[in-house]
Amino acid sequence: MEVASLEELARRKRKLVVVGTQQIGLFLIGGTVYAVSDVCVHKQRSLTKGTVLNGQIICPGHQWAFDPQTGRAADREECQPTYDVRIEQGAVFVNPSPRALTSEER
Ligand code: FES
Repeated sequence: MEVASLEELARRKRKLVVVGTQQIGLFLIGGTVYAVSDVCVHKQRSLTKGTVLNGQIICPGHQWAFDPQTGRAADREECQPTYDVRIEQGAVFVNPSPRALTSEER
């Protein structure tokens, strides 16, 4: 499903989109678009209201740092759902089914 344009993300760096029942945060970090559940696994704060520091998404709630590729919280067991992103002719598409981690990412 098309959820944003690359141009828009280049400008805003992030965007909250609602796909079905899921709130998904899109982030443009280092030239790559990532899609991560916007709802923090800790206490449900909105990650798109957080900051990005050293390539990680920092939750505004309690500053947990998430890897945008794997959704993993630094130094913790918790993991934020992530979604596959596809870019086609400047349009950003997100697969609304959370992706499974590959064996290297686990
Ligand atoms: S709500 Fe995200 S770290 Fe606590």
